[in-house]
Amino acid sequence: MCGIVGYAGGRQASEVILKGLQRLEYRGYDSAGMALLNDDLELIKVRGKVRDLADLAEKHDPHGTVGIGHTRWATHGEPNDVNAHPHTGTHRQFALVHNGIIENYNVIRQDLEKKGHTFTGETDTEVLAHLIEEIHEMSDIDFYQAVQQALLQVEGTYGIAIVHKYHPDRIIVARKGSPLLIGVGDGEYFVASDASPVIEYTHKVVYLEDEEIAVITRDGYEVSTLKNVRLTKEVHELAMNLEQIEKGGFPHFMLKEIFEQGDTIGDCMRGRLIVDENRIQLGGLDGYVDRLCDARRVIIAACGTSWHSGLVGEYLFEYLARIPVEVEYASEFRYREQLIDEQDVMIVISQSGETADTLAALREAKRRGALVLGICNVVGSTIARETDAGVYTHAGPEIGVASTKAFTAQVTVLTMMAMLAGRHRKVLSDELMRELVRELRDVPARVRAILEDTSGIEKVARMFTYAPNFLYLGRSYNFPVALEGALKLKEISYIHAEGYPAAEMKHGPIALIDEHMPVVVIAATDHTNEKVVSNIEEVKARKGRIIAISSNGQSDVARLAEFNLSIPEIHDCLSPLLAVIPLQLLSYHIAVNRKCHVDQPRNLAKSVTVE
Ligand code: M6R
Repeated sequence: MCGIVGYAGGRQASEVILKGLQRLEYRGYDSAGMALLNDDLELIKVRGKVRDLADLAEKHDPHGTVGIGHTRWATHGEPNDVNAHPHTGTHRQFALVHNGIIENYNVIRQDLEKKGHTFTGETDTEVLAHLIEEIHEMSDIDFYQAVQQALLQVEGTYGIAIVHKYHPDRIIVARKGSPLLIGVGDGEYFVASDASPVIEYTHKVVYLEDEEIAVITRDGYEVSTLKNVRLTKEVHELAMNLEQIEKGGFPHFMLKEIFEQGDTIGDCMRGRLIVDENRIQLGGLDGYVDRLCDARRVIIAACGTSWHSGLVGEYLFEYLARIPVEVEYASEFRYREQLIDEQDVMIVISQSGETADTLAALREAKRRGALVLGICNVVGSTIARETDAGVYTHAGPEIGVASTKAFTAQVTVLTMMAMLAGRHRKVLSDELMRELVRELRDVPARVRAILEDTSGIEKVARMFTYAPNFLYLGRSYNFPVALEGALKLKEISYIHAEGYPAAEMKHGPIALIDEHMPVVVIAATDHTNEKVVSNIEEVKARKGRIIAISSNGQSDVARLAEFNLSIPEIHDCLSPLLAVIPLQLLSYHIAVNRKCHVDQPRNLAKSVTVE
């Protein structure tokens, strides 16, 4: 949540910052601002999007080759001009941008008010700025040391960048719990919440760790711990390129990412699905497969869409590897009485690798001795670095706030992990393994086949654009897909939707069904097909509007449904990889029809780095 960009070099900092903030806007978009160092400290900030900041900047014509910028997702204080970052102290000598939450800000604020500080807004960040000012002005330590001391006093999380008008060549940055990296250029250096603002200028980055602080100038950077131990940091080479973070001719990132899935699922399997040898190879798990296979149980912890892929994983691990699995919301797990120890294995799943609740669950499981494996998309992210081992999804940058290609890549990884464990435990037969290896190999082509003609989905979207409610039903592997379809619709089109196991409908939700209720039924698995057909009959008897996702050849489903969106036939356990695609597209087209902001839905942010 919230995006930070900073620049020190030979270019106009405002240009680098505005472009960078645009790329980070998926992290928050309710207000934006920047601070530039020239003869003075120039501050521009505004409620609204980065585009609004750019318009304002055009009027001010800001200049300076050192500066910082911020795009906000509000936690403390409503989105308005005053609460927008950067924030300053009373004497406006420095400006600070912040990602995270200062939890003890209220106590600090009251104390500072007694000392004469006056606050203009309600943010925790402004309190941090005043605290730094107070420490600096009331002691004989320099500004950098004042920042260090203030950070040692605050509780909570932060990624910060600060510029000071009497040190016009430098940016101070620090991190605890909110990601920050330094981009290493030639005669220019950057700071950013993720690599997207930096990639245009350099592929070399240094990841800051918790409680590290750095000073960046156009000539270099120095990193230390908050307690002043100088560090030599490894410089990483980024594997992503600029094209991957641009829309490539699509009107929205979400649509581009949906259409990429034929490729991304293939990329995820490359070098891992060894078809000729009928085996799976996951280098990231080397040395850990025995412990995974001997686990008393596997606990999967994740949030949102990643939690849904975890639910698919539960079915996969139990069927293919015969290992008991529990799937936990990371946010619930972290505060439960956790009965987890070294006999258990936790798998954390996260597209961003920065989700605060998932990170907390990971740390708690590790503290209690469990092996923690990760499934992450963002290479070098905090979760990827803190897990004992793991498998990257290699889906490429996902910019649309609604997660799509990350879901299918996560399910692909979970499928491969379950197959690997099943073989290792000798519970997955040669024959079934051969069938699944072949079927998995063909998934990308089948995804492309679905995407070739989306006119049926668009028609359904037109039909139900203004429906106030939706029900999504699925069974077995496709129950989580029903949840995912409902989540996609809710988050980007603001239509209330619920996902249910199809057979649970009769225990309550059936009361909602009348001639106005669209009911999306995922009927793509064979072994529960007859049961789902009965559920469809039940909806039909109550005049519900049935939209079915069925495999080619399920003529009974096609006959009963008002709209039938067919997908290619595939083994039951792989069907979520196909069944989710029409649901992603359905929510996309409904949101576009309703003129919603598809890539940046209201109130949301791509990566949730606060509790
Ligand atoms: O980056 P993560 O996978 O950890 O994110 C988890 C959720 O915040 C995320 O899946 C969220 O639910 C998406 N907006 C869903 O589309």
